[in-house]
Amino acid sequence: MTKAMAMPGVAVYILVWVGLVALSAVTQQDEWDIADATFYGDMSGNATMGGDCGYGDLFAQGYGLENTAVSGVLFNDYETCGACFEVRCFNDSLRCAPGSINVTVTSLCPPDPRLPGGGLCQPPRKHFDMSESMYVKIATSFHAGSIPIQFRRVSCVKTGGIKFQIKGNPWWILVLVYNVGGSGDVAALSIKGSGSGSESGIGASWTPMEREWGQNWQITKTPELVGQRLSFQVTTGNGKVVVSDNVAPADWQFGQIFEGAQFLY
Ligand SMILES: *[C@@H]1O[C@H](CO)[C@@H](O)[C@H](O)[C@H]1NC(C)=O
Ligand SMILES: *[C@@H]1O[C@H](CO)[C@@H](O)[C@H](O)[C@H]1NC(C)=O
Ligand SMILES: *[C@@H]1O[C@H](CO)[C@@H](O)[C@H](O)[C@H]1NC(C)=O
Repeated sequence: MTKAMAMPGVAVYILVWVGLVALSAVTQQDEWDIADATFYGDMSGNATMGGDCGYGDLFAQGYGLENTAVSGVLFNDYETCGACFEVRCFNDSLRCAPGSINVTVTSLCPPDPRLPGGGLCQPPRKHFDMSESMYVKIATSFHAGSIPIQFRRVSCVKTGGIKFQIKGNPWWILVLVYNVGGSGDVAALSIKGSGSGSESGIGASWTPMEREWGQNWQITKTPELVGQRLSFQVTTGNGKVVVSDNVAPADWQFGQIFEGAQFLY
């Protein structure tokens, strides 16, 4: 009797859940737009490590070789760092390989003043300068040059929670945010301490951090936060918010990496 009663409830729950997932998956996918693509570095991807988004070892951070630099109009003053794009070559039967790739924005492709017109990344050009191992998946040869592509924003699929690496010093706390699922970018980051041992009131309430460089966010003159448990609130470019409560224990150390909650889609 109780089992029979429970079944419809479960079925409804699953239907609603599937419906929501399908809806959010659709709304996360933009229309295809047009750009061009090249690669930089070699098949090792070493040259693509680091980058203007302020990540670091992209392999250790889970991005791997599936990364790209984008021109300024797409980079949008760091706002696109961490966003994921599906890219496919099009309109060139000689140079296009079939299929698509997904890449994460990890760097800026700047204009090159030595080239006529500022080169391929000069505004308002839309350009992807990706790792070679991604480029050769959509081009027929690494000799194919600048290839015409279609691209669209897609959800970033991540394993595990958002990662917070705490860097800096007591007077300048810097937090690198990576492994962000869903929208992938970070529009705002706030920090909150557990409040223990703080007379100043800093700590116990949410304080917005400032984008220092790429996905490195800073808060200054708050040594009270050392020795407190830390929580983070991440807001992505699509306005979604995820709170990771007490993600760092009271004895957190500079240099450590903590794993928080995650955006689902
Ligand atoms: C890439 O970096 C790794 C680790 O630093 C190194 O072992 C490898 O030789 C480098 N490869 C190239 C082609 O530079
Ligand atoms: C496709 O390529 C042709 C030949 O290069 C070009 O004239 C045309 O504008 C391209 N179409 C699009 C949609 O980019
Ligand atoms: C790229 O991402 C989209 C959206 O998440 C997905 O449908 C597609 O299968 C992915 N493509 C590859 C090559 O992983």
